[in-house]
Amino acid sequence: MKFFVTGGSGFLGHHLVQKLVEQRLPVVGSFFQHAIPVDSLKQVRVDVTDPKAVSAAIHAAEPDVIVHCAALAQPDFCEKHPERARAVNLEGTRHVLAAAKAAQLRFVYLSSDLVFDGEKGYYTEDDPLPPPQNVYVETKQRAERLTLAYENGLVIRPALMYGFDGVRPGRNFFEIMFQRFQRGEAVKLFVDQYRTPSQVRNLADVIIELAQTRETGILHAGGAERISRYEMGIRTCKIFGFDTALAVPTRMADIQLAASRPRDCSLDTTRVQQILRQTHLMTVTRGLQDLKSIFPYSVAS
Ligand SMILES: NC(=O)c1ccc[n+]([C@@H]2O[C@H](COP(=O)([O-])OP(=O)(O)OC[C@H]3O[C@@H](n4cnc5c(N)ncnc54)[C@H](OP(=O)(O)O)[C@@H]3O)[C@@H](O)[C@H]2O)c1
Repeated sequence: MKFFVTGGSGFLGHHLVQKLVEQRLPVVGSFFQHAIPVDSLKQVRVDVTDPKAVSAAIHAAEPDVIVHCAALAQPDFCEKHPERARAVNLEGTRHVLAAAKAAQLRFVYLSSDLVFDGEKGYYTEDDPLPPPQNVYVETKQRAERLTLAYENGLVIRPALMYGFDGVRPGRNFFEIMFQRFQRGEAVKLFVDQYRTPSQVRNLADVIIELAQTRETGILHAGGAERISRYEMGIRTCKIFGFDTALAVPTRMADIQLAASRPRDCSLDTTRVQQILRQTHLMTVTRGLQDLKSIFPYSVAS
């Protein structure tokens, strides 16, 4: 099965194309402003807001499946630039999906746990979506609906992703926290915000396996464990050898953000765990140990 990965230069997309190359699965990765630093990868520059360019790139690549990771993935940026957010996240998805439909390709859309409002927690795939609380969520919910209307479309909802970004380090929550711990700086972390974080390398394996099934509809691909950001900070300190006093317990009400953040967006992953045969969803401890095993960043060693 040949893959076409949009957003191959992103945090998730880079890990995804890296894993595909390692597994010797044929893949073409697309990027927009950052070339993808993966040796021997076929790659193409595509702006997803340009329907002709999208169609031409996908037609030339002749894939069997498209995994659509390209997006403006930062809620605060989307809130400040709503038209751009809609152009990339919604219209961009429409264009990639149109190319998939034209060639009858499998289409996998990367959504988010943030489509929920966080009032309930442990959301299943059958839980109804609330009205969107911000522009990012609006674009993700609408792009999900486009995908679900296609008979060969699969929506994968990962949770908050953590890991090391090999293209633009220092942008995701975990890496920002990690780098500050490395400098010996204290980090305020929410004790009252819960997620089921997805370790990015584990998520890449999950996506590769699910893309090769016949599953359609929605699947939740969070990690195996519900955890607060504070507890995640504590575990990071313990596993990488930082002083746990650097993780400072903080309440959400104490910090103002441009886009509102939900309290508990944890995902019920029962369905995906029943489908997966080769990949196991990682707990946070396991995910952090995996990161430590491949990155020589530990202050303890
Ligand atoms: N990060 C998380 O914690 C998280 C959690 C849940 C769901 N998600 C979802 O997972 C997906 C991947 O997120 P991520 O964190 O990997 O995002 P990211 O690191 O910000 O990467 C975004 C990717 O989109 C590409 N892109 C942006 N504008 C584009 C355009 N106009 N045309 C073509 N490509 C464009 C970027 O290309 P260049 O860099 O080359 O410009 C980059 O490859 C997104 O759908 C996001 O909503 C993320």
